[in-house]
Amino acid sequence: MKAFTKTTYGGPEVLRLEEVEKPTLKEDHLLVKVYANSANPADWHILRGKPFFARFSFGLFKPTDKILGADFAGVVEAVGNNVKNFKVGDRVFGEALQSGAFAEYVLAPATGCGHMPAETGFDVMAAVPIAGVTAWQAIVTHGKLQKGESVLINGSSGGVGHFAVQIAKALGAEVTAVCSNRNIDFVESLGVDKILAYDRENIHQHTQKYDLVIDTHGNLTFKDYKRLGKRGVMVGFTTMGLMISVLLKRALSKYPLAQFTAEANTQDLNTLTSLIQAGKVQPHIFKTYPYLDIPKAIGYIESMRTKGKVVMVWE
Ligand SMILES: NC(=O)c1ccc[n+]([C@@H]2O[C@H](COP(=O)([O-])OP(=O)(O)OC[C@H]3O[C@@H](n4cnc5c(N)ncnc54)[C@H](OP(=O)(O)O)[C@@H]3O)[C@@H](O)[C@H]2O)c1
Repeated sequence: MKAFTKTTYGGPEVLRLEEVEKPTLKEDHLLVKVYANSANPADWHILRGKPFFARFSFGLFKPTDKILGADFAGVVEAVGNNVKNFKVGDRVFGEALQSGAFAEYVLAPATGCGHMPAETGFDVMAAVPIAGVTAWQAIVTHGKLQKGESVLINGSSGGVGHFAVQIAKALGAEVTAVCSNRNIDFVESLGVDKILAYDRENIHQHTQKYDLVIDTHGNLTFKDYKRLGKRGVMVGFTTMGLMISVLLKRALSKYPLAQFTAEANTQDLNTLTSLIQAGKVQPHIFKTYPYLDIPKAIGYIESMRTKGKVVMVWE
């Protein structure tokens, strides 16, 4: 099968489109024929081996996993012996960070897959796994957002942010979104109540207080969290220094600030499917690349200026 492989750390130029062996089925896994992928910041972090501590998980001197990619949507080709809830021919979407999804076939843990809604395209559902699950877990699992509460979402136009805004609205919250001036129309179209353009108003001097503050971009200081939110959830990070500073101050304080690493699971993926079927959440595809241009798609996502999601389609 064709797959985008890496044998050294570096930029998109180190990716090679190669013929490799189709993965061997494992008991708790699905073998899925891939129809579409989406790109996430995790892809370029893993590709570059940055930040450095990531190399303790992905290989100290060179990458341990050969194939890049996490998000996929496709059709089940084979089902492991222990898997009960999927069958051959099912249309599924999910996350396969370890085995690598930028390939014609992916070996995905069944616990990281969900069924696709009928009549929804592979490209649309490939946009969902990491960003959608991260948004759901930030808002619901860790943020515990309740109907009628107010939430500030910093970085609301990107993959995670545009899902977070829609999930918060679906739960009946009052949503204030922070994005760049150029993305105001897009974020407004997601149904937010109020928008702050960070290039017009300094978020570090904003004084209104919200029930919950969610930072998908990762440039809020600990002082910002305390000033802006009764509780907070840190999703992204911009610099290691800032992240460490926020986490150290959190350790010395009683302020309720959650930080987590999202992992796709069938229950959360199915919840997102229900929200999509009900029309409450719509994945927004900003750019679509043919699979041959997967390195270009990774280069694009690295700019961190994506509006919604970047998707790659296989023939
Ligand atoms: N904790 C986890 O498990 C987890 C999971 C997934 C992702 N993440 C992290 O979450 C972050 C976002 O991921 P993503 O997939 O949403 O990335 P993305 O799709 O590339 O979106 C990045 C967004 O950042 C916004 N942005 C850039 N500068 C900003 C600023 N100064 N203030 C506010 N927003 C700004 C951009 O919006 P504008 O163009 O409008 O500026 C863009 O929409 C990344 O750091 C990623 O590594 C964490």
